[in-house]
Amino acid sequence: MSTHSDLPLTVPPAEGPPGSRTHLRFFRHLEASSPWLGSRASLRPRDATHFEGDTLQAKFARALCERSALPAKELFEATETFELVRKRVRRPVVADLCAGHGLAGLLFAVFERSVESVLLVDRERPASADVLLDAAAEVAPWAPAKIQWRVEALKRTSLPNGTGVIAIHACGLRTDASMELALAARGPFAALPCCRPHRLHPAPTSLKNALGADVAIDVHRTYALENAGYRVRWQEIPAAITPMNRVLSAAPPPVGA
Ligand SMILES: C[S@@+](CC[C@H](N)C(=O)[O-])C[C@H]1O[C@@H](n2cnc3c(N)ncnc32)[C@H](O)[C@@H]1O
Repeated sequence: MSTHSDLPLTVPPAEGPPGSRTHLRFFRHLEASSPWLGSRASLRPRDATHFEGDTLQAKFARALCERSALPAKELFEATETFELVRKRVRRPVVADLCAGHGLAGLLFAVFERSVESVLLVDRERPASADVLLDAAAEVAPWAPAKIQWRVEALKRTSLPNGTGVIAIHACGLRTDASMELALAARGPFAALPCCRPHRLHPAPTSLKNALGADVAIDVHRTYALENAGYRVRWQEIPAAITPMNRVLSAAPPPVGA
């Protein structure tokens, strides 16, 4: 049986200028510029040959390939974002908001020993969620007991104090709604925003015009977090995975500060 002790030692990645990395952070043997990383085609059993070895990462990836569980792009979006923010977001309770298949949350359940409970929140629970959970159970038997699904809209969600929040491609204003839930819980927050609602978003029009709406919206989000005492970081996953590749992450002020 696999255990948490299978987890590899974590070596902090050297941070060069954005886009300068040659290899992925989570699957370190894969080249960061490979067009396959952005493929919307489902992983297939024969793709398991890309993930050789005895690490838990490789075993989980092979289990996903064997089940044709999800598109390659979605595997790499979740794993690269996870690797960037895992230390910042991990808390006893982690919530994956607009979770879809729930891979980001599952990664916390599988790879982060200190995470006791993972809330997967989405207004729908797709069939693929059970396929991914089955793959996780095969290689990380401790993971399923940590998972709680909440089939509900974000506006109906509330989170326990201190919950770590992750929102991957939550779409439009739902990234902002996820941020508000993290702020209300005074927990850390990480997002890989995708389509930004240029007209609807309350970022100043002057900034949208001067900086471009996508940047202005993330600047506005950054100020909202900093004004609440959070420390914010902007990072990127490789553009070969998705052009919508900016990762915002934010750590709350220490309790009592
Ligand atoms: C683009 S998908 C992203 C899914 C997943 N995070 C991923 O990385 O693949 C957006 C998800 O948001 C969910 N969603 C849309 N509106 C929602 C709402 N109001 N409350 C909760 N989930 C919502 C959809 O059901 C969908 O699963």
